[in-house]
Amino acid sequence: MKKIAIFASGNGSNFQSIMEAEAKKELKIKTSLLVCDHHEAYVLQRAQGLGIPIFCFNPKEYEDKKAYEEVILEHLLVEGVDYLILAGYMRLIGPTILREYEGRIINIHPSLLPAFPGKDAIGQALDARAKETGVTVHYVDEGMDTGPVIAQESVRIYENDTEESLKKRIQIVEHRLYPSVLKELFQQEHLNIG
Ligand code: GRF
Repeated sequence: MKKIAIFASGNGSNFQSIMEAEAKKELKIKTSLLVCDHHEAYVLQRAQGLGIPIFCFNPKEYEDKKAYEEVILEHLLVEGVDYLILAGYMRLIGPTILREYEGRIINIHPSLLPAFPGKDAIGQALDARAKETGVTVHYVDEGMDTGPVIAQESVRIYENDTEESLKKRIQIVEHRLYPSVLKELFQQEHLNIG
């Protein structure tokens, strides 16, 4: 069974949806670690409640990205983590982690990439008066939301949408799409090995 680490910086609703799929055995994985860069993040409470090991760090306490990523990497290797699942982790993954996990890092982003990459993708879509946006699950490379796309699903934008109403509909899609894409991915991986 594949071991994953989930990286998150905030609320952790996607973390929750993956954990629920794991608990129901829909996803045959073991979440071995939560990596978080905010001591106040609500995702920490979710992980504590479920007894998931946590590595929480304050980037400001390290000299640079390389320094904190070396410590993260140590935790990942100690836990024997196979895949990194980014779920609202608000930092670019640097070369230290990429070198070790290239092709095994996955992210979810609230737009139809390559449209609206980076921060505030939902606000960007509303400002652009787009008719649709959506959700993308993709592999992570050194760029900002630039890695190969694994799956996408569109979400319509209505005239009277606010950031809140649109986010709500996008997250409904995220919570279904992310676990199902991971399920398929790990099944394929299992078949390839078996
Ligand atoms: C999600 O919208 C995800 O697409 C983006 O960050 C958000 C995280 O939300 N990368 P949550 O913390 O999982 O609720």
